[in-house]
Amino acid sequence: MPIEKNQLRQVMGHFATGVTIITTLNKAGQMHGLTANAFTSVSLEPPLLLISVDKKAESWPAFEESRVFTVNILADDQEGLSRKFAVSGGNKFEGVAYRVGANGAPILEGALAFIECTLYAAYEGGDHSIYLGEIQQAEIREGKPLLFFRGGYRALGD
Ligand SMILES: Cc1cc2nc3c(=O)[nH]c(=O)nc-3n(C[C@H](O)[C@H](O)[C@H](O)COP(=O)(O)O)c2cc1C
Repeated sequence: MPIEKNQLRQVMGHFATGVTIITTLNKAGQMHGLTANAFTSVSLEPPLLLISVDKKAESWPAFEESRVFTVNILADDQEGLSRKFAVSGGNKFEGVAYRVGANGAPILEGALAFIECTLYAAYEGGDHSIYLGEIQQAEIREGKPLLFFRGGYRALGD
């Protein structure tokens, strides 16, 4: 018998993660993005990473039709941005400082790192879609990460 939903959420919440905002753009060139912590490094050769996007997310169709996405790893002063991109729908980029990256997806100003990808493969993942991205470009800066643990935002040392 599979684990119950709330218990699964609770258990997975005990795995401390960083927080990202993953951005993309649809075929019409509209930008989309969502807060995500289902993100992991996969392969060095070729350089691959993995994200998992809820099929019920408003931005899911954009991820489905797009060939690119960018993972923005958030800094500890970007909790507000994380909350903004965790609310469904609307133009989340209004009032947000960003620039358009080489792959066409937005890079958020102030992020600890960004990783620009082209889509390498897509897989079924239950109620989520799993996307493997091939890393084209990435950049880091000094700073501390925003963390997520047991359903709440944390900072290093909490
Ligand atoms: C810390 C945190 C991590 C999240 N991780 C994911 C994730 O990995 N994948 C996902 O699809 N949604 C994730 N979400 C939920 C989405 O951010 C949320 O459903 C958002 O409203 C989707 O936006 P959209 O409907 O405009 O696409 C996360 C939310 C938070 C607060």
